[in-house]
Amino acid sequence: IKLQSNIFNSKVCVVPGDKSISQRAIILASIAEGVSTIDNFLFAGDPISTLKALSKLGVKYTITTENLLLIEGVGLYGLKASDGTLDLGNSGTGMRLMAGLLAGQSFNSVLTGDESLSIRPMQRVVTPLEIMGANISSNNGCAPLTIKRRKGLLKAINYKLPVDSAQLESCLLLAALYADGASKIISKQSLRNHTLNLFNVFNLNYKVESLDSVYKEISINPTEKLTSAKIKIPGDISSAVFLIVACLISKNSKLKLLDVGINSTRTGAIDVLKLMGARINFENVREMNGEKVADILVASSSLVGVNIPTEYVLRVIDEIPIILIAASCAMGKTTVKGAKELRYKESDRITAMSKGLSTLGITVKEFSDGIEVEGGTLLGGCVDSYSDHRIAMSFVIASFAAKEDIIIKDCKNILTSFPSFLTEVKKLGACFVEEEDLIEV
Ligand code: S3P
Repeated sequence: IKLQSNIFNSKVCVVPGDKSISQRAIILASIAEGVSTIDNFLFAGDPISTLKALSKLGVKYTITTENLLLIEGVGLYGLKASDGTLDLGNSGTGMRLMAGLLAGQSFNSVLTGDESLSIRPMQRVVTPLEIMGANISSNNGCAPLTIKRRKGLLKAINYKLPVDSAQLESCLLLAALYADGASKIISKQSLRNHTLNLFNVFNLNYKVESLDSVYKEISINPTEKLTSAKIKIPGDISSAVFLIVACLISKNSKLKLLDVGINSTRTGAIDVLKLMGARINFENVREMNGEKVADILVASSSLVGVNIPTEYVLRVIDEIPIILIAASCAMGKTTVKGAKELRYKESDRITAMSKGLSTLGITVKEFSDGIEVEGGTLLGGCVDSYSDHRIAMSFVIASFAAKEDIIIKDCKNILTSFPSFLTEVKKLGACFVEEEDLIEV
């Protein structure tokens, strides 16, 4: 990727629908009564894998000419056995949430994924689901997951999450709908809370009690039905941050992003960038299905390195790769620790970023649970995205400040979360050639 100039003046961009909310919305719509309408669904690899899996379980859907997704809910007990395996592709959220949904069904299911998903940890969902009485076999704690039919209801669970994972929490919330009594889940307040927000939209009752400033307890009863819903999905803040950083590290540029979700459990990246001196403002703040939404205004900024406070990590975990690109353009060092989960994402993101940034001339120190980056000058070079969408997009954005061309290997997975990404960055002045899996920018 090469920039025609690193100035794109004033632009307006739209980011696609939120991936986490899209996945949750179609799962809940599938077990609701009647037809649900989903506007601004993210038609990208990950949610499409989940949609296909739901369709194999007997859920019918249509896409209207206005691009609305209509899901014909089959009711809580209306899913049917699939006649083949359910392939969740690259989607960790898809696999972990579907495991929770399927653990309490009266038929067998086998969940598979691509090469990257097949080495990601699944024991974190298997253990509590087994406590609930599910019968699941895995490949040493990884996919494929074979879920045996459950005779009768699952047992209610009282569980404190041993891993701070929103996917695990949501997996158990779904399983709890099929339990024989009230379940209680204790987890960090800062985990993304989209499942609970959607529970309100689908008329499901639950209670959340704050235990202290860090933990909460969710109490949830099994339910008889979910009502259908009309949902508009906000733009994905995790996608927006790539374009935000492109603007911050370019000269004399301004950017406006429309209709982006700013749920406080997701805005850790904005908080970190502001600590670094970024000029970012929210305007036209409003609500969409219990989710806060705003237009985001950004202006080129002189950034300084920061120590990312550990309590921010959960709310910024998906954006650490792109924050490290901002850090490479900042004055001084940026450090993140307490982020070991980065090693278990679509790639080992600590190593992927450390190798890529070193190739581009940046001084990097790797820790077992984090990374330190010293701001400097991004040069050119050939980096590997390890087939990870967020690594590939981060290095595309690095080109907005890099002195020379960057070649990025293995990029087709950008399609899993942000299919219009290259079109948007082209609007901002990036100039690139795509060669099979190689993007030369
Ligand atoms: C997600 C939760 C996070 C995040 C992932 C999406 C979700 O994963 O990294 O991209 O939709 O719940 P963990 O639950 O593993 O932390």
